[in-house]
Amino acid sequence: NNNMFTSIVVVGASGDLAKKKVIPALFSLFHDRHIAKENSTVVGYARSKMTDDDLRGRIAENLVCRLKQEDQRSCGDIQTEFLNNLHYVSGSYDSAEDIAALDSKLKELESGHEKVRRLFYLAIPPSVFTDVAHLVHLHARAKQTVLVVEKPFGHDLASFEELNRTLQEDWKESEIYRIDHYLGKEVIQNLIVLRFANILFNNTWNRDFIKKVEISFNETIDVKGRGGYFDSYGIVRDVIQNHLIQILGLVAMERPLSMESGDIVAEKNKVLRSTTIDPSSVVVAQYEGYTADPTVEPDSKTPTFSRMTARINNERWAGVPFTLTAGKALDRTQTSITIHYRSIPGEPLFNTPCGNTCNRLSIIIQPDERIELRTMNKVPGMGFDARCSDLNMLYRDTYKGVHIPEAYERLILDVIEGDQRFFVQSGEARLSWVLFEQTLKEIDDGRFEVKTYPFGAKEGEI
Ligand code: BG6
Repeated sequence: NNNMFTSIVVVGASGDLAKKKVIPALFSLFHDRHIAKENSTVVGYARSKMTDDDLRGRIAENLVCRLKQEDQRSCGDIQTEFLNNLHYVSGSYDSAEDIAALDSKLKELESGHEKVRRLFYLAIPPSVFTDVAHLVHLHARAKQTVLVVEKPFGHDLASFEELNRTLQEDWKESEIYRIDHYLGKEVIQNLIVLRFANILFNNTWNRDFIKKVEISFNETIDVKGRGGYFDSYGIVRDVIQNHLIQILGLVAMERPLSMESGDIVAEKNKVLRSTTIDPSSVVVAQYEGYTADPTVEPDSKTPTFSRMTARINNERWAGVPFTLTAGKALDRTQTSITIHYRSIPGEPLFNTPCGNTCNRLSIIIQPDERIELRTMNKVPGMGFDARCSDLNMLYRDTYKGVHIPEAYERLILDVIEGDQRFFVQSGEARLSWVLFEQTLKEIDDGRFEVKTYPFGAKEGEI
């Protein structure tokens, strides 16, 4: 891609996602010289009437530098350089004329460059992204153009199919990057290495050794400010059906043939096709005070917490429950995977307070990334008692001074480099809707009692 000039268009530039995640991620890539002003430009597009400077002012405070001491540059200089290369075009999402005006602005910025490609980041809801995608196809394509689309990819299987069909009328699968930002998280990417490059885990990663797997997402924040969106989706569509299912895929898949995109996706797909949700395991709950939010229906039964057990019906996993839990307004913010190992059969040799075996692998995705392995060890001293203790790999100690990229940084760079490995392919997105079709229908039909929980409750108490 020598001499290639990249125009990055952030559609929905005035929104929260653009301001908090997408544009700051672009800044980090700029800061780390993955993109430069000589070979790229960033253009925001949204309905709000704003000038370039208004947009620059709105996002300036979210641009964080990570300069090393020996760095010659100043943060202010890098920010100014980035902001000067950021432009804004205002227009509506369904106007051919406005998108054509965007195209003219892009041409102006691209002039003098022979090889140009365009990346449209659609940080807008699906109700409008199909319009934009179609108009961009008609009026604002460069020779090479790709789209990045954000979840939700539909509301159920039927709406997903419709959305996907519309997109695919104009765009090839290789031009569509469906982002699930969990796939860009460092510790989640590490799952492939941890599992397949350690004989210790590789050879015991199955029903003979593993008793159960827990994948759990806890957040202290509630849905404030996003009630309008959240209320019609709920926690299962917001987090479990996508982020947690992607994690499940990586935890449960077979070794891919290679690290190529198609090979990883093929294995995740096989897992999805063997997975079912156990209807008797479904718990749904809502935090107290949820309906006081003015953007939420006053008698809403939308779950803000849910737990359910997935079963994977294959040789590796039959009989091993995968518990998926996600909740808002809980006592802490943490996403983790816990692998519980079986006990060694027979009578314990040692005197222990914790049973015969206590092996447990905890993978803390965030915050404070770490991998912890619980093992049994002799208590130091004259006796022969054994206790459980943890081997602990804390990223911040092990990789001192190493920057762990934000998921969006990593994934946007992947888009720029044309790497689709950590994006959701259409077949996969479809399968994850198929998997939840029945459960979601039953939740929407009020088939499960929606419990209430106090704000700040512990996951285990719901
Ligand atoms: C988003 C959900 O996809 O992920 C949010 O819509 C959730 O409800 C967020 O808060 C969590 O992302 P992260 O990266 O903060 O764990």
